[in-house]
Amino acid sequence: MSERILGRGSQPVKGSSEAEEKLRAEPSELVAAVTREMSEPTDGLAPTPVGLVLFFFVLAGWAGYYLSSNSGGFNANTYDEHYAGRANSPEVQTPQDPMVLGRRTFNMCAQCHQENGLGLAGTYPPLSGSEIVLGDPQTLARILLHGLHGDVTVAGAVYNGEMPGWDRLSDIQIASVLTYIRGTWTNNGSPVDPALITAIRDQTATRTQAWTWAELREAAKTPVSIPITNAPPPSK
Ligand code: HEC
Repeated sequence: MSERILGRGSQPVKGSSEAEEKLRAEPSELVAAVTREMSEPTDGLAPTPVGLVLFFFVLAGWAGYYLSSNSGGFNANTYDEHYAGRANSPEVQTPQDPMVLGRRTFNMCAQCHQENGLGLAGTYPPLSGSEIVLGDPQTLARILLHGLHGDVTVAGAVYNGEMPGWDRLSDIQIASVLTYIRGTWTNNGSPVDPALITAIRDQTATRTQAWTWAELREAAKTPVSIPITNAPPPSK
């Protein structure tokens, strides 16, 4: 029979080994070898190993824990160094040093009132030694929020200029800059509470005009009350 498969009239190949002969004789052994070496491909619906599933659960849990313990409470405070929320915002838990924030905010004032707080004679009134700066904080809050124009006497000299309002600054920034100008140079005034700025801002919400000094004298006769907070007084 092997002669018929191989030969078709030719002679059987000389020297063919015994094993070849055997395979030709018993093809089932060849089939068995092939099926042993190559596994059948399957449809890939094998269940995910439980250990792997658990591992990802643990990983997700750890990631959540890591985020929540390192996020700084997702406070804008933590991420934005220019952030100074409103005084009544619950996000503001760590009070910034008002003298530091105030010093930074003062950069916006220094172009007119000068770094040394002495102003420019005849044009910009001094803040250092000014009885207005050392006076009623409510008046200061009003000046800062809406500006000042018309005659005003500071340290014995009359000025008649235009001071812009700064209501785009936050309550904390305004309170800080006031705390700063009251507590630096030769000045030795008390710090200003951001809650006061909040109260004055609410009271004057409809105002659009800058104040005149006469209007400020009038407004100062009805002092606003500010809520008592548990916050410690700003350090100097
Ligand atoms: C564009 C110039 C300019 C800038 C900027 C400016 N001021 Fe004034 N400020 C004035 C002028 C002018 C007056 C006087 C207004 C008047 O004559 O009625 C004044 C008045 C004042 C007064 C009352 C008078 C006094 O000297 O005590 C205070 C307080 C004050 N400014 C604080 C500030 C603070 C704080 C800032 C920064 C947030 C600031 N100003 C930014 C021009 C400026």
